[in-house]
Amino acid sequence: MIVQFKCVLADHCKDNQTRNQTIEQRVKIMAEDTILRKSISLEDLTPLLTQAQDINYWRSLNPNLTISDNPFADFQDSSDISKKRLNDYTLQLREEGYFQTNQLIPSATIQEMNECINQVRKAGFPPIFALVYDVFYQVFDYFNPILEGVLGSGYKLIPNFWVYYIDTVDTGKGFEPHRDAEYTNTIDANGMPTVLTIWITITDANPLNSCMYILPLNRDPQYAEAITDLSTPANQFALEDVRALPTKAGVLSCWNQYVFHWGSRSSKRAEEPRISYAAYCQKGESLPIDDVMINIPSSIDFKTRLGLIARGLYRYSYASFEESKEAEPVLHFLKQQMANLEKGVAIGIKQ
Ligand SMILES: [Fe+2]
Repeated sequence: MIVQFKCVLADHCKDNQTRNQTIEQRVKIMAEDTILRKSISLEDLTPLLTQAQDINYWRSLNPNLTISDNPFADFQDSSDISKKRLNDYTLQLREEGYFQTNQLIPSATIQEMNECINQVRKAGFPPIFALVYDVFYQVFDYFNPILEGVLGSGYKLIPNFWVYYIDTVDTGKGFEPHRDAEYTNTIDANGMPTVLTIWITITDANPLNSCMYILPLNRDPQYAEAITDLSTPANQFALEDVRALPTKAGVLSCWNQYVFHWGSRSSKRAEEPRISYAAYCQKGESLPIDDVMINIPSSIDFKTRLGLIARGLYRYSYASFEESKEAEPVLHFLKQQMANLEKGVAIGIKQ
């Protein structure tokens, strides 16, 4: 049985009343209103649920990678960024709604991440389970000066994680055209976002293996409306205003909640799959936009990571799981892991 999973970054809730809703109400509304879905095989995952909870299983699956309690332990905060480059990013974020960095993650690390995700997939797991390994958190060391520069010190990771694996087939594709649009009013008085989508490429993304296409906000007549009305469509722009974003592996791409974008159709002529992962970050001084926030650096032990993985899976498959009897073991597993997350180490702030 295939369960439909909802797009991690594309919930379109009609929530002018968002601020008055509880987290549970908001998640339910997002789940019910989501227009984009991802699928996963229950037959593959169900028999693996026991070993998924065994840290030694994961260690043996990728023996070169670590799973510690403190993935940010070696966080050096050593990478630097010039003032000019940061100004360029900031300006583009304000004017066009997005920016992309140069390659930040070293090639050797990218290779490790790539091999890891392939191993996880070969073992039958959805690729999001790769987030048990330290390396996917450690690389924030490379992003830190940029995220601090854009969001300010004390910014938080919002673990709305998804790991993407788009195969080299004609039937593959990224998420359909959408605005991420999970939260209203995350643009400040200066036109700067208080919430950023962060998308990290682990292979090169190109037009053949599904790269990102984006409509810069200054070419989108409906952009301003989308900030307050998350159901705002994008159907008044000129096709020539769409911009393809071929992206090298190891690049950090960031955009705000309301720019219209999508991952294109892949092709069997692509040389490699498009592998990437995504989450959100928010300004530290703003009110929490969601139920879990992660300080960087902070402790994230194995159980907590399973909770984060379960949270990602559950959050975007809510309705389907509720309706499916076959999904019962997986649903139980997800709830169990999320309970660990709530009781876990102090990674965030429960609203
Ligand atoms: Fe998106």
